[in-house]
Amino acid sequence: MPIITSPQEFNVDDLYVDLRPVLDCPLYLKCEGFNFAGSVKLKAAAAMVAAAERDGVLTAGSTIVESSSGNLGIALSLIAADRGYRFVCVTDPRCNPASMRLMRALGAEVRVISHQDANGGYLESRIDYVRSLAESEDGCVWLNQYANSNNWRAHYSGTAPAIDRQFPDLEVLFVGAGTTGTLMGCARYFREHGRPVTIVAVDAVGSVTFGGLPERRMVPGLGTSSRPALVDESYVDDVVHVAETDTIRTVHALSSRGFLFGGSTGTVVSGAAHWLAAKYPGASPVAVAIAPDLGERYLDSIYEESWLRENFSDLARELQLPGADILGV
Ligand SMILES: Cc1ncc(COP(=O)(O)O)c(C=O)c1O
Repeated sequence: MPIITSPQEFNVDDLYVDLRPVLDCPLYLKCEGFNFAGSVKLKAAAAMVAAAERDGVLTAGSTIVESSSGNLGIALSLIAADRGYRFVCVTDPRCNPASMRLMRALGAEVRVISHQDANGGYLESRIDYVRSLAESEDGCVWLNQYANSNNWRAHYSGTAPAIDRQFPDLEVLFVGAGTTGTLMGCARYFREHGRPVTIVAVDAVGSVTFGGLPERRMVPGLGTSSRPALVDESYVDDVVHVAETDTIRTVHALSSRGFLFGGSTGTVVSGAAHWLAAKYPGASPVAVAIAPDLGERYLDSIYEESWLRENFSDLARELQLPGADILGV
């Protein structure tokens, strides 16, 4: 029975969904959403804060400032609350309203940057704002998840060994790419431990991380509008790009079986299913994919009919979501 005194002490690291009976896909899905932050980003947040405290960068009275599309911000909000720091999260209009409410409920200040960068995304604008804040205000500490090695180290020492323990014969690992912290930590672990695991990065169409052209993206979490400093393609065996329509089709296929996952899980599972069908037709290699979070914070977007109609009208028709029954009393 785990008994904890800080929210970041608890994390389920050994839960997998077998997608064979669910989606007819030979894939085990590692669920990273069962902790108080509700996502894989708790590990990176905890590791970056612990290192900054060790290095004497974060001290009593410090303010943490960070750019986040939502999940790292939520994780930092609860750690900042636990450790007694002020936290300012810089995000953009694509951040789920539920994520912003969660951060505020945890005592964080949320600032939304709404002017786009040269690539038509928000990342550069967010980072410019965070940099200026960190430079101009005394006691402000920018952890910089895009370049902080403790981001990938959290997965090198946590996520990857946990997968290795459960699947000693692992053949293929699919990891979604945002900052690429999860991807680089896992890829480095399996390479440096001499394990013959094919590492497949899964990214969104319209992300520039692996050299694609920038395009409109609506689902937060995966993908970037400027290349993250952490990415090192020499550790990555293959890259799959997934269209957001396939992301949304896949999360709805999962929810129709009772598994309510977040958007980037749809991206990773869709990319993995297509990659496995192309590379291992009719076969079942030992394959794992990482599900970064769960679906509740996406109820206003990818699970909401009006949002789908506004942003993906053909798909909204195709999915035929059941409407709410308003019953008179
Ligand atoms: C929902 C979700 N999926 C995937 C990722 C990507 O993880 P990473 O930054 O380790 O590449 C993030 C990161 O913010 C996320 O919030």
